[in-house]
Amino acid sequence: MRDILPPESALWNRVEQIAREVFGTFGFAEIRVPIFEQADLFARSIGTETDIVSKEMFTFEDRPADVPNPRGKILTVEETGALEEAVRSGKIPSSDQNVTFIHELRKVLDQLVQLDGAASDETTVSRVKEYQRLIQAYVYLAQFVRLGDSLTLRPEATASVVRAYIEHGMHVLPGNVKLYYMGPMFRRERPQKGRYRQFYQIGAEVLGSSDAPGIDAEVIEMLMRLFERLKLKGAVLNINSIGDKNCRPAYVEKLRAELKKVREQLGPDSQRRIETNPLRVLDSKLEHEQPIIEKLPRIAKHLCESCREHYTEVKRQLGMRGIAYMENWRLVRGLDYYMSTTFEITAPGLGSQNAVCGGGRYDGLVELLGGPATTKGIGFAIGTDRLVLSLQEGGEGDADKAGGIDVYLAWFGAAAHSAAIGLARRLRDAGFVVELPAVEMKFGKSLGLADRLKARHAVIVGDNELAAGVVTVKRLSDGTQQKLGETELFAYLQTAKSM
Ligand code: HAM
Repeated sequence: MRDILPPESALWNRVEQIAREVFGTFGFAEIRVPIFEQADLFARSIGTETDIVSKEMFTFEDRPADVPNPRGKILTVEETGALEEAVRSGKIPSSDQNVTFIHELRKVLDQLVQLDGAASDETTVSRVKEYQRLIQAYVYLAQFVRLGDSLTLRPEATASVVRAYIEHGMHVLPGNVKLYYMGPMFRRERPQKGRYRQFYQIGAEVLGSSDAPGIDAEVIEMLMRLFERLKLKGAVLNINSIGDKNCRPAYVEKLRAELKKVREQLGPDSQRRIETNPLRVLDSKLEHEQPIIEKLPRIAKHLCESCREHYTEVKRQLGMRGIAYMENWRLVRGLDYYMSTTFEITAPGLGSQNAVCGGGRYDGLVELLGGPATTKGIGFAIGTDRLVLSLQEGGEGDADKAGGIDVYLAWFGAAAHSAAIGLARRLRDAGFVVELPAVEMKFGKSLGLADRLKARHAVIVGDNELAAGVVTVKRLSDGTQQKLGETELFAYLQTAKSM
């Protein structure tokens, strides 16, 4: 995790602001979803075998602090009473599982108490063994007690958006529901340049009854438009179709069969994936696996008629929009909910973590999470950290580095202080950035600070100025200075700002 400091935060704000503007013109509105959700939501959506769910989620038990936890230690008789009361009153989940296991824990505890109380000081082998057996039984049973829901810091937001879509019955809304979001996501990955454990995404989702290829193409157009507005250089769009439930299973089996033949030549990760998720082998970056992967069967030849037509039409519609793309048959994406169209955008200056955005179609997800089977979905998420990095590498962040202060308002004397406070308010109301020293300083020190803060102008208010009804304004870049009345001052600053 890291801090994002000024002046870099100004670039972040500009990126987010332009995203809002561009997405707004395509009819998207913002959705804000919670930072954490039930762990199960992500497991079901993203897939239990994926890296995200199997290795990278920050998950915790949402348990009340005042209920004794039998997983931490062997509870006392009183603590066990409190645990039993908590399950009775529903303070912790009163599931059958909890009731049963807490009852079993109590029985083991009673036996332990009995053993303790047995009138013998002897430490016989059999007595030690009996302790051992009971403690092991206790530890074993305790792991099945649930003191609260299992919650996860969101590793992505598509699952949350779909959950919200279903929960709020948005399928009755006319046309497609178009939503965007921005905010932090959490994955327990190995940190490196462009990869963080708390990172940020700007994402968008389209949910509705149509899967028309024109929607896919327009979503991609919106992304490219945003990158153009941001002057991101060297972005490359990669696209693929990974088929649907009619054609993908047969392809996956074919792939698995081929992979089994070359198993011995593959690394341990790929070997494991032959069983769990053969498609992910195509993602491998291992040097020695590349020639093997190049010879594997390609999905394009195994798409069913409707997937092939859909994909062809997406490409035609990208062409209609003048959007250049590269077809990449190995682009399978790391989340299970995808089908048909998938895409990724790479950008320069990011080293190995060069995917600045990823997305695709996920038509079965709404149904999987309990919504209408007729709802289809497509979306993407931009990694904001990576986008900002790439903009900085391309020199596009420089504009945001300029010092922000229009006026450093130096005042000298009590009367001038009060006049300066009033002037600062009127300047700020007019939109100027004003720095007003909180305490009186010597002239040289005050003007020195104005320089170091890189203010554009120093406006000086002292007794002489007050008496004459003017202020002295000094342009700090070249030292030119003049005395102006308030109306002229505003006009002068306005002109300076627009240059
Ligand atoms: P994703 O490919 O997992 O897709 O993430 C999207 C983007 O988030 C990546 O291309 C990358 O730029 C950024 N990203 C991912 N992990 C990190 C990290 N640890 N540090 C920095 N940046 C990272 C999704 O999350 C899908 N929900 C996208 C989507 C929306 N598909 C359909 N709708």
